[in-house]
Amino acid sequence: MADTKLLTYFNIKGGIYKTTTSIMTAYELAKDKDKKILLWDLDVQANLTQYVYKVNHDRMTTLDILKDVDAKDVIIKAPNANYANIDLIASDIQMARFEQELSPLPAREKFLYRWYMENFNTLNEYDYIICDLSPRYDLTAKNILLLADSVVILVQDKNVSSLRGADLFKQLWDVDRTYFDKEDNIKNIMLVGFEKKKTQVSEAFDSYLESFEDLRSMMLNTYIRKNEFVEKALLKKLSLTDFLKDTKDHFSRQEFTAMLEELKEKGVL
Ligand SMILES: Nc1ncnc2c1ncn2[C@@H]1O[C@H](COP(=O)(O)OP(=O)(O)OP(=O)(O)O)[C@@H](O)[C@H]1O
Ligand SMILES: [Mg+2]
Repeated sequence: MADTKLLTYFNIKGGIYKTTTSIMTAYELAKDKDKKILLWDLDVQANLTQYVYKVNHDRMTTLDILKDVDAKDVIIKAPNANYANIDLIASDIQMARFEQELSPLPAREKFLYRWYMENFNTLNEYDYIICDLSPRYDLTAKNILLLADSVVILVQDKNVSSLRGADLFKQLWDVDRTYFDKEDNIKNIMLVGFEKKKTQVSEAFDSYLESFEDLRSMMLNTYIRKNEFVEKALLKKLSLTDFLKDTKDHFSRQEFTAMLEELKEKGVL
């Protein structure tokens, strides 16, 4: 039986590569055929589902879990034929109802936790469960945060709002997780969209970062660069290394692999 690692890349600030990094992590991990990976899309925008599976579908989503559906019935097996060991819990625009329907339930923050435990045998077969959330600190997010072994906060180079979003999230979650007696599962901060070119904005970003001692001390040494190949690989439904396999020693391939190695060292993966 696998010792499942459930993780999420998160920030309250949107548009900072959460979905892309979730998918690319899963695709790289899938190279080890002995590993089973579940991508769990909980974002109403359903971007992950669209990239990994398809734009329109009539499959069940997390919304159906409210009707007490079995994990086996919600999970879509191998939605991307390139990676047979990746499964998916899809999202769809209907997920917009989830918050509203969840909110009157008792112990609503632990709804998905209870479902997970009821379906433990199915879900525990996965080595990794990677959850993709909306950029909001809402009930859905809290449900996943309470389940997560690791949260990696993404911050984007030159994007001061992403630092403020990270800091605010950390403050809010520290209060809530203490209330729920959950360990501190924010493991690291990862810098994405890194551009070597220094501008006035990057100086502002650097000096802002200086003022967040907490965040700075959790920053990974590796980072993800702003890189058009990531988007191209995503559209081809391929991992970055598979997409770049005919090119020699491309810097981004090494960077991405180094980032995953560091996450393994830190016990996130
Ligand atoms: N490494 C990268 N280099 C360049 N562009 C990237 C990279 N990763 C993601 N992008 C692009 O940045 C945009 C935002 O990425 P993505 O959708 O993953 O962000 P998100 O944080 O999930 O957004 P949201 O908060 O809306 O869910 C997309 O157009 C994506 O293709
Ligand atoms: Mg997203």
